[in-house]
Amino acid sequence: MKHKVTYLNKCILFAVIALCVNTVVAKDIMAQYDKARRNLIHQKPLIDKASNKDCLACHQEILKRNIRQVSPAGVKAKESLAWYQTLDTYKGEQKTFHQRHLVTPLAKELTNLKCNTCHQGNDLREESVIPPDSNNTTRTQRKHVNPNVCLMCHGKMNVAVMGIPESWEKNGKLFNNDCLTCHATIRTNRHKVNFLNAEAIEASAKSHKDTCFGCHGGRAWYRIVYPYPRHKWENMSETIPDWAKNRPTESDPRFLIKK
Ligand code: HEC
Ligand code: HEC
Ligand code: HEC
Ligand code: HEC
Ligand code: HEC
Repeated sequence: MKHKVTYLNKCILFAVIALCVNTVVAKDIMAQYDKARRNLIHQKPLIDKASNKDCLACHQEILKRNIRQVSPAGVKAKESLAWYQTLDTYKGEQKTFHQRHLVTPLAKELTNLKCNTCHQGNDLREESVIPPDSNNTTRTQRKHVNPNVCLMCHGKMNVAVMGIPESWEKNGKLFNNDCLTCHATIRTNRHKVNFLNAEAIEASAKSHKDTCFGCHGGRAWYRIVYPYPRHKWENMSETIPDWAKNRPTESDPRFLIKK
């Protein structure tokens, strides 16, 4: 009997110790998690200096997580293709948003997007500016990104300023479906920003006529156009057209390639 009690006591003692250790460890994990969540790298000025590697040290889920094969309502991913997913540039299975912009073959070939190209930190005081407007572009809530960033690659094609009637889909054939028919000599000083691979884009456009359209109307999630900066180019005319009078002549400073 005495022997049994000791055994029971030992068990209880062990259980109590385990519970204590568990609570301490769990508390410690929660404290660490909270600390990480509030890490100042999520805010300015640190977010501007962060490399993808810095963010991925904690956020591997962003690249590793995969899409559901079947939606909660039972629709199979394989059976629900959007039109752009049928293009020959769309390689492989469906992927998450982040994978499509960071690691899929097309993204790697033509772009060099950084976490902080899109994620810009939020203003602790204002908490958020919703919707982010063109006068307050630098401090949108950190889980939100400024849609102007997306608009650069997902806006409508501004055919009006190009003297192209109606749409590219309808009238591209007048120009051999090739943007370079005109853009071999017009606005040639382009894409010199830290999130695009300028040379690879020009090289790709020579063999794939849809490369340019892909970012300038072909995947237009927006109905509006993006007012691109208008860099000087060789042999440009001195007269500035009315629509271009308020345009910047340089890319946003945060996108400039540091020499
Ligand atoms: C020290 C670890 C750590 C680093 C480094 C880190 N994060 Fe986080 N981040 C977290 C944790 C933890 C959360 C909370 C996650 C949750 O609650 O789901 C979080 C949340 C977020 C969220 C979700 C939005 C929100 O407000 O909850 C975004 C977006 C984010 N991080 C982006 C970034 C970016 C971009 C970088 C690099 C500039 C970065 N993080 C660097 C740990 C980190
Ligand atoms: C092309 C723009 C873009 C790039 C590049 C980008 N993100 Fe995001 N990210 C977004 C958008 C848009 C959301 C969704 C925002 C929302 O839900 O309001 C998001 C959401 C997130 C979230 C929170 C939601 C989730 O999916 O867990 C985290 C964390 C995050 N991004 C981290 C990162 C990290 C780390 C990188 C770099 C490796 C990165 N992002 C690169 C646009 C981007
Ligand atoms: C530098 C140009 C660029 C920027 C900036 C950009 N995208 Fe994209 N986006 C692309 C390209 C290119 C693809 C096609 C990738 C492919 O087909 O593999 C794409 C694909 C997509 C897709 C389809 C993904 C799929 O697999 O179905 C969505 C949705 C999307 N972008 C939304 C956004 C949003 C929202 C933002 C802003 C947070 C954004 N993009 C910023 C270039 C860009
Ligand atoms: C008929 C000749 C012509 C063709 C074809 C053409 N463009 Fe243009 N594009 C122009 C002209 C002209 C401008 C304005 C030049 C200026 O700034 O004065 C322009 C401007 C642009 C701009 C800047 C718009 C802005 O608001 O600043 C982009 C982006 C562009 N073109 C992309 C394309 C793409 C992509 C294609 C093919 C899908 C294409 N263009 C086909 C003549 C053309
Ligand atoms: C991966 C997406 C992507 C592709 C592909 C792409 N563009 Fe762009 N383009 C952009 C972005 C983003 C900008 C704005 C960059 C900046 O802020 O300076 C831009 C800017 C421009 C401009 C404005 C130039 C100026 O004065 O600064 C023209 C013109 C243009 N692109 C034409 C083209 C043509 C022609 C092609 C094909 C050879 C092409 N684009 C392919 C994303 C793309």
